[in-house]
Amino acid sequence: MAKKRCLMIGAGGLARRWLREFYAPHMERVEIVGLADVNEEVLAQSGDFLGLPANRRFTRMADAFAAVEADFCTIVIPPAFHQEAVTHAVALKMPILSEKPIADTWQACKEIYAAVKGADLKMQVVQNYRYYTPMLTLRDVLRGGELGRINYIVARFAKDYRVYGSWGAIFRHEIQHSLLIEGAVHHFDAIRNLGGGDCQFLGGWEWNPAWSSSKGQFNALYTMKLDNGVHATYEGTGTAAGKQNIWHDEYYRVECEGGAVVVDSDHTVRVERFGGGRGLRVEEMIPIEVRYQEHVAVIDQFLTWLDGGAAPEATIDDNLKSVAMVFAAIEASQTDQTVDVAAMVAAARAEAGVADGQGG
Ligand SMILES: NC(=O)c1ccc[n+]([C@@H]2O[C@H](COP(=O)([O-])OP(=O)(O)OC[C@H]3O[C@@H](n4cnc5c(N)ncnc54)[C@H](O)[C@@H]3O)[C@@H](O)[C@H]2O)c1
Repeated sequence: MAKKRCLMIGAGGLARRWLREFYAPHMERVEIVGLADVNEEVLAQSGDFLGLPANRRFTRMADAFAAVEADFCTIVIPPAFHQEAVTHAVALKMPILSEKPIADTWQACKEIYAAVKGADLKMQVVQNYRYYTPMLTLRDVLRGGELGRINYIVARFAKDYRVYGSWGAIFRHEIQHSLLIEGAVHHFDAIRNLGGGDCQFLGGWEWNPAWSSSKGQFNALYTMKLDNGVHATYEGTGTAAGKQNIWHDEYYRVECEGGAVVVDSDHTVRVERFGGGRGLRVEEMIPIEVRYQEHVAVIDQFLTWLDGGAAPEATIDDNLKSVAMVFAAIEASQTDQTVDVAAMVAAARAEAGVADGQGG
């Protein structure tokens, strides 16, 4: 099968790793044929790494979309610029593999959704943490059913970003709702993924403590109810001064009918069962091994989809339900009210002209 030609929007930051690590195992299936980044230095570095000629390197994404013939594009630039890239791709009917979140505002997410659905385009949003061994192992225990029905989920992300600039790109210390938009979008998706349902209602608050280095909110405490009756609670903090549950080391505990399943920063998935006169019994689960993990797995899914294979889990239809939780959380905090997430998603689908029961 011919290699798929990829136009890459973003050359530095995480895009640097996309080009050097995430695409590397798939180079027999993909060719990067164009590269855009506003930063000339990283454009030159990544362009040289790829061996791209000068006429395939662009500082304006509009020029890249106009000049490069590609089978799909990859978007790895800050969320505030995702819509601009998607708009170009939609105009060219070019399938899209985009980093999370879909966009930095709910309005932009809805417009992207409507544009992509209107053009009948394939768009996948990166939810790499679904395909990480501890999460795959945890989900397998739940799906296996040996613990019975799921009752509720407790999720925790905690990282010490108290020093300005310590959370990678500077924009994360500058934008509003930073922890929700850049962080919780992964954890809310994980709650849907583990809970096996979509969020119906969500309430709680985000805030920024006086000593935070960020301009936006770095703390979040939320409670939610999924449409299958599963409840969940989320603690997210970018000012963690105590125990850390950083990226890949998040804490998830799922309380079920016949026991609980837990993963913490040591990555070992443990099943806990209490009772039967034997107190608490703890069993360590064998980690699930897969050929590809995280971004490498996401790219594999996307290429398979383009080749006519199965649709991935995180299509834009599905991911709208995760990103809606982020913007519901912002609204809940601003209004001190519980937000009807399901109604938000239904309205976005109706605005996009997507009928009930269609499009996932
Ligand atoms: N899935 C994950 O685990 C994960 C991890 C980190 C970041 N991300 C996502 O990746 C995306 C990029 O994040 P980052 O940390 O790499 O950000 P970043 O600020 O480092 O930017 C990445 C690159 O985009 C370029 N850029 C900025 N504006 C641009 C524009 N208008 N046109 C072209 N290029 C532009 C920058 O110069 C930089 O080289 C975000 O959506 C972020 O949420 C995902």
